[in-house]
Order: sequence, then structure tokens, then C-alpha cells
Amino acid sequence: MGRLCSNLSGRIVRPLLTLIALSTLFGCSNPEEEARLAALAEGEAIVKKNCFVCHGQGINGAPIIGNSKMWAPRLEKGKEALVQSAMNGFGLMPPKGGNTELEEADIQLAVGYMMSQATPEK
Ligand code: HEC
Repeated sequence: MGRLCSNLSGRIVRPLLTLIALSTLFGCSNPEEEARLAALAEGEAIVKKNCFVCHGQGINGAPIIGNSKMWAPRLEKGKEALVQSAMNGFGLMPPKGGNTELEEADIQLAVGYMMSQATPEK
């Protein structure tokens, strides 16, 4: 029980604390910036669970997260087109990366996070 609890709190509380620490560090008190950071954190969690298996190391040519060069031609398509690619499948990527339970809103967050990692100025 104690072990379960500490595992759970580690999983949930640590990312939250990191987020709070980061927002304090950057002194952001404006709600728009906080919403943006929260969306990125949510997107990151979705990506880690559903997309990272391929996009972490470039399986089958998946553009690697954080690799601006690989992402440049994708970014040019614009967010809506990329969301549609992820929703419907693209090349060797299955629709929704294979997790049919994801909603379009989840895909939006995930793609938003991926795009943010590909631009130097975030
Ligand atoms: C099974 C492996 C796999 C998984 C899981 C996966 N992808 Fe992909 N993804 C790919 C591959 C491979 C490509 C490159 C396809 C191509 O260019 O032919 C790609 C390309 C993309 C692109 C660029 C599409 C374009 O129009 O250029 C986006 C955006 C994307 N993936 C988002 C996601 C998101 C979001 C998730 C998680 C919900 C995800 N992917 C999960 C394999 C995967």
C-alpha cells in the first residue's frame, strides 16, 4: 500500500512539481502563458504514452522529436494538416499512432507538443 502510494505520487506529483518549479523559475504569472505550458505538459504526457515508441528514435522514418531538421518540412504544412495526418494515418504511421481511443483534442495537444520541440524558440 505504502509502496503503491509512493509510486503513484511519484508519477503524478513529480511532473506537476516540475511544471510549477519551471513556471516559478520563468516568473510567468500570465494566464495565457500558463495555459500554453499546461497544454504542452499535457501534450508531452500523451506523446510519451502513444507516440514516443516511434517518434523517440525515428522508427520507419518517423520524424524524431526535437530534431528541427527532420521537422522543418513537416512544420511547413501547418498544424491543421499535421493533426489530420496523425488522425488519419500517414505513410507507415497508423491512424492516431495506433491508439483509436485518442480524441482529436488529444492529437491536437500531442502535435502541438511535437511542433514546439522542433522550433528553436519553442
Ligand atoms: C507506429 C509508429 C508511430 C507511432 C506510434 C506514431 N507515429 Fe507519427 N509518424 C510515424 C511515421 C513512420 C511517420 C512518417 C511517415 C511518412 O512521412 O511517411 C510519422 C509522421 C508523423 C507526423 C508528420 C505527418 C506529416 O503530415 O508530415 C506527425 C504530425 C505525427 N507522426 C504525429 C504523431 C502523433 C501525434 C502520434 C501519437 C498520437 C504518433 N505520430 C505516433 C510513425 C508513428
